[in-house]
Amino acid sequence: MKHHVKDLELAPSGRLRMEWAEREMPVLRQITERLASEKPFKGVRMSACLHVTTETGNLARALVAGGADLVLVASNPLSTQDDVAAALVTYDEIPVYAIKGEDDKTYYEHIYAALDHKPHMTMDDGADLVSVMHTHRREILGNVVGGTEETTTGVIRLRAMAKEGALDYPIIAVNDALTKHLFDNRYGTGQSTLDGIIRATNVLIAGKVVVVGGYGWCSRGIAMRANGMGANVIVTEVDPLKGLEAVMDGFRVMPMIEAAPIGDIFVTSTGDINVIDRHHFEVMKDAAIVCNSGHFNVELNLEALAEMAVEAPRSLRPFVKEYKLSDGRRINVLADGRLVNLGAAEGHPSAVMDMSFANQALSAEYMLVHAEELENTVYAVPEVIDLAIAKLKLQAMGVNIDVLTEQQKAYLASWQEGT
Ligand code: ADE
Repeated sequence: MKHHVKDLELAPSGRLRMEWAEREMPVLRQITERLASEKPFKGVRMSACLHVTTETGNLARALVAGGADLVLVASNPLSTQDDVAAALVTYDEIPVYAIKGEDDKTYYEHIYAALDHKPHMTMDDGADLVSVMHTHRREILGNVVGGTEETTTGVIRLRAMAKEGALDYPIIAVNDALTKHLFDNRYGTGQSTLDGIIRATNVLIAGKVVVVGGYGWCSRGIAMRANGMGANVIVTEVDPLKGLEAVMDGFRVMPMIEAAPIGDIFVTSTGDINVIDRHHFEVMKDAAIVCNSGHFNVELNLEALAEMAVEAPRSLRPFVKEYKLSDGRRINVLADGRLVNLGAAEGHPSAVMDMSFANQALSAEYMLVHAEELENTVYAVPEVIDLAIAKLKLQAMGVNIDVLTEQQKAYLASWQEGT
């Protein structure tokens, strides 16, 4: 079996860590049991381009238990957990192409390896599989019945493709499920981003001025958790509603150029380019820490920073690079501007990935059954799937909720009764 991972000897550690993660993934576990008995993916070639983590390992095992013929590749050059990649190859016989720290050339070779599998279904995190297939491997498009997409950035790219009529098969936007973005994007990104910053730097968050770029679900989580640890949080936004929401959530809101000279730690999570640009680096304090938790590393203009630096960046600790500027100021960039939560830490905790990947598995199954009826556009996760996952998660947590009485149902369905 072909594969490309760092070191197969790491496999035992990967297996144990996947087992540990699985304890926090009760919803995916139940789905895996059903998939294993029903085998809905039998004969289906799947290519998945996801962050290769313990949680993804458990999703991969769920898909294979359901009969899928799966190839898994990294969706980011820095997010792979090499022991997980080794364990999936060694114990589960899944062809994995993913190495932490792979260069861009290797990253794309891995994407092409996933496409060489001639998938019937794609599972993306950031839309690279879909994008490369539609631009460079159009001859295999005819095999594909549908796909799923995990993240905000990927959904934005796919909607742009669909709008131009350039999307050749239907995709379910897993990100848009409530059981995905309300939990994974908010609590997952919130905790894992702070975790990444702390593991990389060991700085005290209390008392620091933390500037959060954006106030979407991910940034909200980051702002909330930084605030919870005693940081003085500033939010930057371009959307008036989100800006207003951040103000009323108790944060200072201002343009990045005003935040730049006062921030100690900067985190972007906007999905857009050059959110921190040359003119921002020009006015930052000495020893400012800059990182990104958005999908692509384009949020920080690191080319400009490299041009401004008087010497090659110095690596002070793993995932910390110090750029020295001509006036002596030092700017510290974490995880090369790539997703700090996955680069310097382990990504979102398993308990939220449980719901995200339950959505992935159930959406893939739904897609397989309904692909014929779907058009070549981006679809929401069906509400029944979202609600079923929320129910299962609550059950697994031992939390009961109320049930509407018949009288309450009738009241909600009526309009005559007022004051
Ligand atoms: N995205 C963010 N965190 C993740 C994780 N732990 N596994 C897979 N994808 C992720």
